[in-house]
Amino acid sequence: MKTYNQQIDSDSPNMTFSDYLTDQQRSVNEALQRWYRPAAHGPAEKMIDAATYSLFSASKRLRPIYCLEVARAFSGSFTSAIPAAMALEMVHTYSLIHDDLPAMDDDDLRRGKPTNHKVYGEATAILAGDGLLTSAFEVLSKAGGEINPKIRLKWVRELSEAAGMEGMVLGQFLDMRMKSLPSLEDLENLHRKKTGALLAASVVMGAQAAEAGESEILALREFAYDMGLAFQIRDDVLDVIGGEEMGKPIKSDERNEKVTYVSLLGLEKAEVQGKFWFDSALAKLSAIHFNHDNRLEELTRFVIERKV
Ligand code: IPE
Ligand code: IPE
Ligand code: MG
Ligand code: MG
Ligand code: MG
Repeated sequence: MKTYNQQIDSDSPNMTFSDYLTDQQRSVNEALQRWYRPAAHGPAEKMIDAATYSLFSASKRLRPIYCLEVARAFSGSFTSAIPAAMALEMVHTYSLIHDDLPAMDDDDLRRGKPTNHKVYGEATAILAGDGLLTSAFEVLSKAGGEINPKIRLKWVRELSEAAGMEGMVLGQFLDMRMKSLPSLEDLENLHRKKTGALLAASVVMGAQAAEAGESEILALREFAYDMGLAFQIRDDVLDVIGGEEMGKPIKSDERNEKVTYVSLLGLEKAEVQGKFWFDSALAKLSAIHFNHDNRLEELTRFVIERKV
């Protein structure tokens, strides 16, 4: 049985948000380093290297951090939520490897480095993504003995629904097909699937780890879908106005003739929409009763103000 990194479950209120973020990113990276030790030798070596290359590149780690922070807000321990946090990041990383492929967005830069297929070739990149997706569920099923099997099953259901053909995969499919001018509602639906579903799973899985009540989980899911829209609108905006610090190419959407909030509404109105969903997310968050002070509002502010 694998054991997970034990962390101090408290957060110092005196810590700046930026220090908190760095600290959480370090915790997630350490946990992934501990768990993610597939045997990298023999003929599998290149494929494992490819998965490791993307998994340990510079990421904000927002999904695992949301998951851990929600668990903490409901008095759940780091240990109780870290398998879910790791699985979320593995699924997210797989989605990025595949998103960058020539058959999809055909991008050359990701997390400040050449994209996976540029380094390892397309076939290996596809398999490295497949491997990360599959391993995520291995992590959940092998989660330490202290985790109630009912919670593991809830996690598997939540993550498979969010990532699958009614969630992110559907969103990615719609994203590729949507070329003509859709209604705002259609674009909203696409973004909710493509990005919102996995972010919603992140907060829900954290809440499940802490055994939060059903009504809290429902409210958190609604919050996260709004936050996810604000997140993807910011991503669309950054595709136009972003700088080098993003670590991925700008104008990828324009090159691929993607329908985004910016292409549909223009930059200014897209930013207004982003603020609208941010405000809506915060209103929903403020109605949820947590056991502890937490960083969820700050995290959400970061989502809309971020430059990376
Ligand atoms: C990028 O996600 C893909 C989208 C859903 C827009 P992030 O912006 O969270 O990427 P990383 O994990 O920090 O690289
Ligand atoms: C991708 O959206 C969302 C995923 C599910 C991976 P984008 O294609 O806009 O993400 P970036 O801009 O490449 O990170
Ligand atoms: Mg894409
Ligand atoms: Mg892309
Ligand atoms: Mg984008």
